[in-house]
Amino acid sequence: MEINTPTAPMIDLSRHQDGSSDTSAFARDVAEGLSTKYKTLPSRYFYDGTGSRLFQQIMDLPEYYLTRSELEVLTQNKKNMAGQFSQGGPFHLIDLGAGDALKTKLLLQELTAQQRNFDYVPVDISKDAMLELSDSLQQELPQLKVEAVVGEYFQALEWLQENKDGRKVVLFLGSNIGNFKAEESITFLQSIRSYLHAGDQLLMGVDLRKDPGVILKAYNDEAGITAAFNLNLLDRINRELGADFNVDQFCHHAIYNPLEGVMRSFLVSKQAQDVHISEAGLTVHFDAWEAIHTENSYKYSIPQVEELGRQCGFAVDTVFYDRQKGFADVLFSVA
Ligand code: TRP
Repeated sequence: MEINTPTAPMIDLSRHQDGSSDTSAFARDVAEGLSTKYKTLPSRYFYDGTGSRLFQQIMDLPEYYLTRSELEVLTQNKKNMAGQFSQGGPFHLIDLGAGDALKTKLLLQELTAQQRNFDYVPVDISKDAMLELSDSLQQELPQLKVEAVVGEYFQALEWLQENKDGRKVVLFLGSNIGNFKAEESITFLQSIRSYLHAGDQLLMGVDLRKDPGVILKAYNDEAGITAAFNLNLLDRINRELGADFNVDQFCHHAIYNPLEGVMRSFLVSKQAQDVHISEAGLTVHFDAWEAIHTENSYKYSIPQVEELGRQCGFAVDTVFYDRQKGFADVLFSVA
């Protein structure tokens, strides 16, 4: 379904076009995650209004190097990247999980300055984010052709398949790939690959393996913002699913495993307690010091990234680094 705003065209593929959230899916996912022996909660529910604001604060923390590192990668390499995107002629620049597109704007400015022939298709699950982005781009780069898509990644790729001919350059920035388990990241990239053709490209952000102490601090900051962000998930369940989590009786705990290269975040119950979740029709028991696993953030080595690409039908063209080589944006082409 197409909705034309006064500023730029926008496609809304989401099931809840009125902006309401899918409470029953949330309730189902929470019930499922808290009914297993090792409790888990899906990380996609971190980002309600409060969670998104807290994540903005995380990105400004001195310890959370990821966003700054990727900004540096893009700042230092945008000329080269823009040139490589444009080698095959006109293209659609598809930005999966665009958000406020703070990082992508560096590339958009560069591509516009180089007078490249492309249009910009930001994709995000948040309609508000896409409205704001369309507006701000209209102000900042009025000559840029923008068509935002509101929806899940694969809904959007399917829509593009049917509605946009021509070459595609897909952006998957921010090390979001790190939040998938090994098998999930393969399925995800294979599925992206299935929508692409010879000559198409993928630029993917990956946080690289580094001093474990540096990684650990990024997920366990001094000011406690990451703790608040993690604990907000319980607040959200209280607000939206009528639960009675006593949030003070849980604490944030994060550990890095350098063998697997994974940062894991948990919420730990400080006492034995029962929690009732009305919307899920469920009472959950926690033993003292029982944990809920809330997030994985995998860190990669470059050989691992190459291998991942190979398994999914991509070949590495160029690896762009920050000065410290702690973060990379990897340009793949369809193999
Ligand atoms: N997914 C992001 C990451 O892995 C966001 C994040 C930062 C995060 N800190 C966190 C997720 C703490 C859960 C817990 O970097």
